[in-house]
Amino acid sequence: MTVSPLSGKRILLLIGGGIAAYKCLDLIRRLRERGAAVRAVLTRAGSEFVTPLSVSALTEDKVYSDLFDLTDEAEMGHIQLSRDADLLVLAPATADLIAKMATGRADDLASTVLLATDTPVLAAPAMNVRMWQHPATQRNVNQIERDGVTLVGPNEGSMACNEYGMGRMAEPMEIVAAIETAFSVPHRPLAGRRIVVTSGPTHEPIDPVRYIANRSSGKQGHAVARAAQMAGADVTLISGPVSIEDPPDVTMVRVETAQDMLAAVETALPADALVMAAAVADWRVVERQEDKIKKADGGVPHSIALTENPDILATVGHAGARRPRLVIGFAAETQNLLENAGAKLRSKGADWIVANDVSPEGGVFGGDRNTVRILHANRVDSLPTQSKDAVAAHLVERIDAFFNGIDTAASLESDPK
Ligand code: CTP
Repeated sequence: MTVSPLSGKRILLLIGGGIAAYKCLDLIRRLRERGAAVRAVLTRAGSEFVTPLSVSALTEDKVYSDLFDLTDEAEMGHIQLSRDADLLVLAPATADLIAKMATGRADDLASTVLLATDTPVLAAPAMNVRMWQHPATQRNVNQIERDGVTLVGPNEGSMACNEYGMGRMAEPMEIVAAIETAFSVPHRPLAGRRIVVTSGPTHEPIDPVRYIANRSSGKQGHAVARAAQMAGADVTLISGPVSIEDPPDVTMVRVETAQDMLAAVETALPADALVMAAAVADWRVVERQEDKIKKADGGVPHSIALTENPDILATVGHAGARRPRLVIGFAAETQNLLENAGAKLRSKGADWIVANDVSPEGGVFGGDRNTVRILHANRVDSLPTQSKDAVAAHLVERIDAFFNGIDTAASLESDPK
C-alpha cells in the first residue's frame, strides 16, 4: 500500500460563497480518505450554498464561521487556525475573496486568516466567465500569484449561469492533485521579501600588493544568504574577498573595501531586511600608496597612518525612511560578550545583534560551527552550538516570524536581561 503525500497533513479549507461550494463536500471526503485532517472555515456567503452541518459532519470537527464569534476566538484564535495548518485551501475562490487577498483586506474570518498567515495558500477560483476575464480580476489574480498563492483552475466549461467559458472551479480530484504537488514543493515563506546580506572581510589596501584584513571566512554570511534565498527571498549578497562558493540564485556584489561595501549596501536599498554579517575593517590607510612600498626606500616603514571607516550598520540603522524594517548586526567579541554586543545594539540602531565569541578557543573564524546569542532590546536568546548553516536557517525562521508579527521568545530559551 502506498502512503499518500497527504497523510498526516493538516488542511484548512476556506469555503467561499459560490455555487461550486458543493464540490467542497466531496473534496473534504477525498482529502480525508488520503489521511489528511481537514478543518473548515465557512464564509457567510459560503453558508448560503452548503450548510455548516454537512461540512462539520464530513470534517468531523467544528466549522469556523465568523471572525467575531467570541467563543471561537477564545478557543481558537484566527492566527492559531492558520498556524495549525500545513496548507490553506481556498475553494471556491470567488472574485470577491481574490480581490480581498490582493488588497490585503480582512473583514471576516476567512479573509483575516488569509492575511494573518505565512502558511502556503492554494486557491481554486470559480466565477462567471465575464467576472474572471474582467481586467480587475485578472489584476488581482496576478497580484496574489506574485504574493505566492498557487492557483488550480479555473476550467473552461458550461456554467450554472447558462454561459460557457473559463470560470468553472477545478474538480475535487484536480484540487487533490494540486494539493499533493503543493506538498512536494519547498515552503517559501520569504517570497516577495528583499533581503540584503553582507559577508566576509573587507580588505583595506596599503599599496597595490598589501592590505589590512581580518580572519572572516564569509561562511556565516553566505549561509544566511543561502537560507534566505531557499526561503524564497530576493537576496543581494554583498561580499568582501572570500574563497568560498557563491550561493545559488542570489544577486552577488563583490567589493573590496568598507567604503565600497557601504556604497553597495546603499545601492541595494530599499530592502525589507539587512543582515550585516560582514567583518568590516574598522580602519583604512589614510594614504594608499600607488606603487609598492620598497624595502630599499628606507627599511621598515615608520608607521602607517589609519583613519576610521564608515560604520555601515550604524549608517543604515539610523537611515530614517530608507532604513529596512529589520536591521540585524553581528558582533564578534573575545570578551564581555553580552555587554559589548548590547552596546552595539543600541549605538548602531540595530533591531537584533547576533553575538558570537570569536576568542581563539571558540574556533569560529574559518570553522563550520558557531555558538551565538541573539540580543534584542529587552532580552537575549541563547542558541546551542550548531553548524553555521543551522544558525542561518534559525535566523531566517526568526526573520520570517518577525515579518509575521510573531514573537519567537516563547519557543526558545531566553535569559531576560
Ligand atoms: N560594522 C559595520 N561597519 C563597520 C564596522 C562594523 O557595519 N565599519 C558592523 C558589522 O558588520 C557587524 C557590527 O557592525 O554587524 C559589529 O561589528 P564588530 O566588528 O563586532 O564591531 P565594531 O563596531 O567594529 O566594534 P569593535 O571592533 O570595537 O568590537
